[in-house]
Amino acid sequence: MAQQGETPAIRTTGLVKDYGRTRALHGLDLEVRAGEVFGFLGPNGAGKSTTIRLLLDLLRPTAGTVEVLGQDPTVGGPALRSRLGYLPGELALPPRTTAGEYLHHLAALRGGRGASRIAGLADRFALDLSRDMRALSKGNKQKVGLVQAFMHAPELLVLDEPTSGLDPLLQHEFRALAREAADDGATIFLSSHVLQEVEQVAGRVAIIRAGVVVDVDDVATLRRRAGQHVVLQFAEPVDAAELAGVPGLTDVVLDGTTVTCLLRGEPTELLRFAARHRVLRWQAQDRELEDLFMDFYRTDPGAGPPEEPAGGRVAVLRRGVRGGVR
Ligand SMILES: Nc1ncnc2c1ncn2[C@@H]1O[C@H](COP(=O)(O)OP(=O)(O)OP(=O)(O)O)[C@@H](O)[C@H]1O
Ligand SMILES: [Mg+2]
Repeated sequence: MAQQGETPAIRTTGLVKDYGRTRALHGLDLEVRAGEVFGFLGPNGAGKSTTIRLLLDLLRPTAGTVEVLGQDPTVGGPALRSRLGYLPGELALPPRTTAGEYLHHLAALRGGRGASRIAGLADRFALDLSRDMRALSKGNKQKVGLVQAFMHAPELLVLDEPTSGLDPLLQHEFRALAREAADDGATIFLSSHVLQEVEQVAGRVAIIRAGVVVDVDDVATLRRRAGQHVVLQFAEPVDAAELAGVPGLTDVVLDGTTVTCLLRGEPTELLRFAARHRVLRWQAQDRELEDLFMDFYRTDPGAGPPEEPAGGRVAVLRRGVRGGVR
């Protein structure tokens, strides 16, 4: 974990990128501390790859600033580039060479750094180095991409959807490799649109939507914020208005004597409400983090993070009547 005041591995401020008339990034602010594993999550078209290409100086910003390992990538040149490992989202590999020839060629371009790790990494990912790259499957191409990103033990790894195309066993191997690199002090910045891919490896995640970061938090806190599904069954009917006043509840359905709801934050007030009645059954189940992520996907772009609920609407169902069908 980085100390206060240490140069961040990545910092962008007010980053804007236009492709002609399309604005892909709308003032993106991001800070990744040295030594952390940071997930960059967002739906298709959110601007993940655009941000990453700006970090690598493969694109130039329309406005705003970028710092990578304390330097502006547009002036850092090959010296800065050699401290990075990059896995592009869409990997273009040269045909008519074998994976081994290609990887050794890259190592030679990097002054020989990483050459000694090629065979070991290929072995871990069960990558056949003697195959022509034209003949490689999507997953095998992704393995070549991962080997070239990790082999020279860079200070900062920037990985655009690293597990795409990998089967579960190799995804597991990737996570192990990422943890080892992090244990050796590397910073890892990885993008994904699937939360499960990053939650096991990342400490913090930023959620990007429509070209802005809408939330940054550590995985443990996100998990707490995801909330719980609660089902309460009472001995007698309860008052919908009273239930509506309980803070922290959304998606409340009152069906006769049964209440189902989503609870975020402390359960104290819900327990107080419940304790005023006779409770026959109480069931609370943690929500998947994926559900929280879906909240971001569903709400309007630009709306910011979903609000912490302050209590409110209660859907009241008459016993035995659902959706108007008896
Ligand atoms: N070369 C380009 N020319 C024009 N528009 C582009 C170009 N590249 C990206 N865009 C647009 O910029 C926006 C952000 O795209 P980007 O590829 O950064 O998203 P992403 O988050 O990486 O998506 P995905 O999950 O699909 O990889 C999208 O609206 C996309 O259509
Ligand atoms: Mg992308």
